[in-house]
Amino acid sequence: MQRKKDWWKAANVYQIYPKSFCDSNGDGFGDLKGIISKLDYLQLLGVDVLWLCPIYCSPMRDNGYDISDYYNIDPRFGTMADLDELIAEAKRHGMQIVMDLVINHCSDQNHWFQEALRDKNSPYRDYFIFREGKDGKAPCNWRSIFGGSVWEPTGDGAYYFHTFAKEQPDLNWESETLREELYRMVNFWLDKGLGGFRVDAITYIKKNPAFPDFAVDGADGLAGLNPGCQNYPGIEVFLGELAARTFHQHGCMTVAEAPGVPEAGMEDFVGENGFFSMIFTFDHADMDVLDGVWCRPSGWTVHDFRQGLFDSQLASQRVGWAANYLENHDQPRSLNKYLPAEIRNAAGAKFLATLYYLLRGTPYIYQGEELGLVNCPFESVEEFDDLSSVDQYARGLEEGLSESEALRLVNARSRDNSRIPFPWDGTEKAGFTTGTPWIKFHPAGKQINAQTQISNSDSVFSYYRQLIQLRNHSVYSDALIYGDFRPICTEVENLLAYTREYEEQKVLVFCNMQAAFCTVPLYQPAKLLLSNGNVELEQDVLTLHPYQAVVLGGQ
Ligand code: NOJ
Repeated sequence: MQRKKDWWKAANVYQIYPKSFCDSNGDGFGDLKGIISKLDYLQLLGVDVLWLCPIYCSPMRDNGYDISDYYNIDPRFGTMADLDELIAEAKRHGMQIVMDLVINHCSDQNHWFQEALRDKNSPYRDYFIFREGKDGKAPCNWRSIFGGSVWEPTGDGAYYFHTFAKEQPDLNWESETLREELYRMVNFWLDKGLGGFRVDAITYIKKNPAFPDFAVDGADGLAGLNPGCQNYPGIEVFLGELAARTFHQHGCMTVAEAPGVPEAGMEDFVGENGFFSMIFTFDHADMDVLDGVWCRPSGWTVHDFRQGLFDSQLASQRVGWAANYLENHDQPRSLNKYLPAEIRNAAGAKFLATLYYLLRGTPYIYQGEELGLVNCPFESVEEFDDLSSVDQYARGLEEGLSESEALRLVNARSRDNSRIPFPWDGTEKAGFTTGTPWIKFHPAGKQINAQTQISNSDSVFSYYRQLIQLRNHSVYSDALIYGDFRPICTEVENLLAYTREYEEQKVLVFCNMQAAFCTVPLYQPAKLLLSNGNVELEQDVLTLHPYQAVVLGGQ
């Protein structure tokens, strides 16, 4: 069992979507100065790492995940001086800054790509994946993640490869020159004093060079791309080199978005000398839809959820460390995804918080999750900014759904649910901007906002503070940070229960995920530490109300 107390194991990470967090200059677009102005709020919450979604120069086709200049800050977010100030001010507040690192692909506006397109003999041509067409068609039938073929014609018989949108050409990791260029850039940012990186879509960097056709699996006549380029063999060489040349030299924290890593591969990724400090896995996050297609709901059960979450805990525990989250900028709000309508309220938000925050690993809070925000209703497809929402809507129609059914399913899953402006207060512009926001406000912002919650000791915000207090500043901290994770009471349906244990310390967490009561026997005296409701704790039995979460200290 790994016991090394690396600094990032004790960290509490808060994810900021800069475009929507706080706008300091009234252009309707969140910025770095806005973030600086909210550091006191974040310090009050108790977090100590801030992960910023991409702030590099970008045409924003995919909100910054399409980088046109890796060495500069997009003027809409501010300047390099603003970032330096943020890093310094965050340090003064006891926080580190972690930036997004997008190196599977860049923007089609990046000068590397522009040069590669302009001149077939340019040295930049090899930075990307160009192939000739096959019988007048694309080189293979893979579907890109945002819809349509992964191949985009260049007009001269050639095609370039893109895992995501066509405006996001993939970088060719087979090129040593490109890899060197990327390592230089990564070290440039780390030398600035960053705490580390969240590494985007990294399991896509290696492709099957033969680009074979796969069996068609959709009405569009295309096939999912994963077998040819998700965690494809050989990727370990690139990742090992990346880690050795950059991250490992700085002792920084890295969290990789790494879909497709099987349990057998975990050690390479997050083991003692793994490529990364931790990875985001997707078992629980994507269990609500089939094959990532939003118009194909899976009909998941609490049993599936428990299995996905707990299996992934056990797998990471065997070899290393986990990154625990329910929400991020790619997911809808967790209250909507995991809980039925009647409990999408403060008690429900506290329930989910208890469930995931005390798991073994580093916890991540996505902006607004600490307020218990719910999804935002979008009335028509035109209201979405997110390109994947638009694509998934079209896909739904293509698969035979009616317009209203497609809209309903996209509403439930849209990434814009969590990307709309942060509600700082209940005023007309939510305290987010003085101008016109880039996307609409949440209609519930008048009731659910930071201002009303900060001063309310019973709010979701205050509950998160208590969780952080318990995890990091209590006599149970070693158990809750470094302790072993063990599922308990697995024979009880719809109950997610586990212990965390470190030497003499023991914490028990019970989450009754159903509309019925449930009782569990306690085999030892226990002390109530936290709950989202009134607790019925007797000598040797605990009665849990519907959707009640209870944390006990064992003795
Ligand atoms: C994963 C990011 O989280 C998502 O927002 C983005 O659209 C894709 N990668 C492409 O970069």
